[in-house]
Amino acid sequence: MVKHPPEPYRIKMVEPIHLIDRAAREKALKSAGYNLFGLQAEEVYIDLLTDSGTGAMSQDQWAAIMRGDESYAGARSFQRFSKAITEIFGFEHFVPTHQGRAAENILCSMLVKPGQFVPSNMHFDTTQANILARGGRPTNLVIDEARDPANRHLFKGNMDIDKLRNFIDRVGKENVPLGMITITNNAGGGQPVSMENLKAVSALYKEYGIPFFIDACRFAENAYFIKQRETGFENQTPLEIARQFFSLADGATMSAKKDAIVNIGGFLAMNDENLFRKACNELILREGFPTYGGLAGRDLDAIAVGLWEGLDEEYLAYRLSQTSYLANSLLEHGIPVIEPPGGHAVYLNAGLFLSHIPSEQFPGQALSIEIYREGGIRAIELGSVSLSYPDPISGKMVYPDLELVRLALPRRVYTQSHLDYVIEAVARIAGRKSEIRGYGFEYAPELLRHFTARFKPL
Ligand SMILES: Cc1ncc(COP(=O)(O)O)c(C=O)c1O
Repeated sequence: MVKHPPEPYRIKMVEPIHLIDRAAREKALKSAGYNLFGLQAEEVYIDLLTDSGTGAMSQDQWAAIMRGDESYAGARSFQRFSKAITEIFGFEHFVPTHQGRAAENILCSMLVKPGQFVPSNMHFDTTQANILARGGRPTNLVIDEARDPANRHLFKGNMDIDKLRNFIDRVGKENVPLGMITITNNAGGGQPVSMENLKAVSALYKEYGIPFFIDACRFAENAYFIKQRETGFENQTPLEIARQFFSLADGATMSAKKDAIVNIGGFLAMNDENLFRKACNELILREGFPTYGGLAGRDLDAIAVGLWEGLDEEYLAYRLSQTSYLANSLLEHGIPVIEPPGGHAVYLNAGLFLSHIPSEQFPGQALSIEIYREGGIRAIELGSVSLSYPDPISGKMVYPDLELVRLALPRRVYTQSHLDYVIEAVARIAGRKSEIRGYGFEYAPELLRHFTARFKPL
């Protein structure tokens, strides 16, 4: 067995990338307001901002795009999309959406009323914002081990079942219009949820009559972690495992930009027919007719193929090993990361690495800026900039437990030598970390502020 499985593909088309010099990087940072979302693509050398919509499509997906049927209603592309979703996810109904947050928006518009609570292991930023936008209160009930970056619990995305029961009892089940779980848990390190935990969460929501929705963006990576780490699943395929966990839920939101390896797309799935009727009406209002829902026919075809490719075992073995190669190499250089490595990204523990910078001065933002400055590498802050928000009732700021910087790995895009470049750049920063200063806001919007905020060095 080789230590790290090589890429299970060879390169047929290339996209040139170029490193601009240090002075140009400094200028780019200033004009972006020290917000890496404000950089132009040509100013970035290795782009690890997100794994969402940034994957490389395969020859079969590009071929499928040419088959796209752009009929407004009942397109053949929709039939192929439906077949893949039915065979993999098994829900009775679904509507395509242009991406994951559109599915979240439709779901929240139908179910969440002001003052109500939506528990999850951890909501991702767009889910959190969609709940808040309806006056709801997102609540994170992940296990305590997830809050300790060095704890090597194998399923750090698990929900704390006791906390969930106590929470529902305290706020009243009538104030919980739906319950969710994110697989893998992006905001908490791309950590998986075990089948055992998914069963327990599902049983609890059923007991209280609360609809259970899975945020399924990275379902295939989660299924492969279950195969690797949970007793009894060693001999099952990721597909068999995925079908089992989806059978435990009442529905799912999906951003196809992750495990379906496409550049745009998503869907909202559910078993409840009344909810589906409402979803179709919302969809027509916001996205489009229920057989295309904000996408072109060719996008539906690319998803139909990509969903199967995302479940391929050889691909998943390589994918998760790429992440662990990056994480373990950084650890060897003394850079603290969330352990064990997650699925789609490596999360640097900026709070610990830059412990001289307090949360109000955004250590994660400071570290991500420094990584760009050093190597033209773009990462994202997942800490007090992107995940803190004012509680809708008390107005008090709610802060995340960890100050992180995420290095997300686009699917099938970068090779091991790109990762070696990243490792060397971050290791160089470690030698001068005490010189790094914090940042303050120059401008910040109310919701999802990390996308458009501007910062000033302190
Ligand atoms: C866990 C999770 N849920 C939802 C979303 C939203 O998906 P989209 O970006 O397609 O709107 C993301 C995107 O990164 C995510 O990681």
